[in-house]
Amino acid sequence: HLQPVILSGGSGTRLWPLSRETYPKQFLPLTGAHTMLQETALRLDGLVDEHPRLGLLMRDPVVVCNEAHRFLVAEQFRLLGRELATILLEPFGRNTAPALTLAALSVEAAGDDDPVLLVAPADHAIVDAETFRSAVADGATLAEQGAVITFGIVPAKPETGYGYIQQGEARQDEDLNGRAYRLHAFVEKPDRTTAERYLDSGEYLWNSGIFMMRASVWLELIRRFRPEIAEACENALAAGHRDGEFQRLDAVHFKGCPSDSIDYAVMERLSEAEAPTEHPALVLPLDAGWSDVGAWSALWEVREQDAAGNVLDGDAFVHESRNNLLIAQSRLLAAVGVDNLIVIETPDAVLVADRERAQDVKTVTQFLNEAQ
Ligand code: GDD
Ligand code: MG
Repeated sequence: HLQPVILSGGSGTRLWPLSRETYPKQFLPLTGAHTMLQETALRLDGLVDEHPRLGLLMRDPVVVCNEAHRFLVAEQFRLLGRELATILLEPFGRNTAPALTLAALSVEAAGDDDPVLLVAPADHAIVDAETFRSAVADGATLAEQGAVITFGIVPAKPETGYGYIQQGEARQDEDLNGRAYRLHAFVEKPDRTTAERYLDSGEYLWNSGIFMMRASVWLELIRRFRPEIAEACENALAAGHRDGEFQRLDAVHFKGCPSDSIDYAVMERLSEAEAPTEHPALVLPLDAGWSDVGAWSALWEVREQDAAGNVLDGDAFVHESRNNLLIAQSRLLAAVGVDNLIVIETPDAVLVADRERAQDVKTVTQFLNEAQ
């Protein structure tokens, strides 16, 4: 079986004013008709048909999210006409390593067939879903054999917010659609100088944040490297309770859980020299128009632009303006003779920003939080 695990706990502060604490970016239709969470589920449609050789069955997704967003998640799947296996509700975020551990434990408790988990962030855009599915099919084949799979993106700039994967030797797997490589080393969020060195070397790929491994493999690794996380998650689940499709956690046990990411807690320890031989870490290069849509500038990049490079959404008008992102929600938005601007209009807030400064939009939410 293939078990999608959708991580939906992020807050998307750089996408203010559309993304709010109570309504973060994964619940917004930023890249198309569907919300990013819905796109994440829809992207897998066709996988089993396109790759019958897999012989895998697709299960309904497990979503891990903040308790405050439970109805948003349930409603968005209902609107899609999709079933969900479980919505795991975190009373507060403890980052992705506990989120995945909870999902793996709940999957393990639900049955005994040890599915391959497909760990998918809820807020990424992938333009070419078919290429993505082809890589996932390869990932499933390798993960079934015990490997830990990452998906690597050719880096475009020395971004410090990503993980970097040093590519090792190519493997000879004839039954794959593409090539798999050993993961030689993994470095999460390097500093600027290191990121520049990695970029120049041509040996590194960005970590996309999408992973595959058997549920039992993740549990074995987290128990080995971060037993406190495994234990806190076990206790939080055992003392929690099921409420329809919602799985609640015991907040006291979960409060004691260390906060850490999949990348720091486990991936950094799976270099070629360190990974257990039965669970090698592998990287599958992914060239499918991936973006984590971290900021407005990234949305401008992935959305279709008109001949002048403008992305217009809603009631927006431009004259002699180039390379702008204009989103109008409640009024007519008109731009004349301006370039490289981001203007996001909502009923109660308007953002005007230089496209080059899109990362700094998080200062607005910081300011608002302090002002409260
Ligand atoms: N359920 C849950 N709980 N989900 C969470 C939590 C949490 O506490 N924290 C984050 N998430 C979700 C986010 O919504 C997002 O979809 C995903 O997990 C990744 O978390 P981020 O916080 O966005 O991670 P990052 O961007 O700093 O880094 C990760 O992604 C990069 C690519 O976008 C790492 O995997 C990097 O190595 C990678 O390059
Ligand atoms: Mg991210």
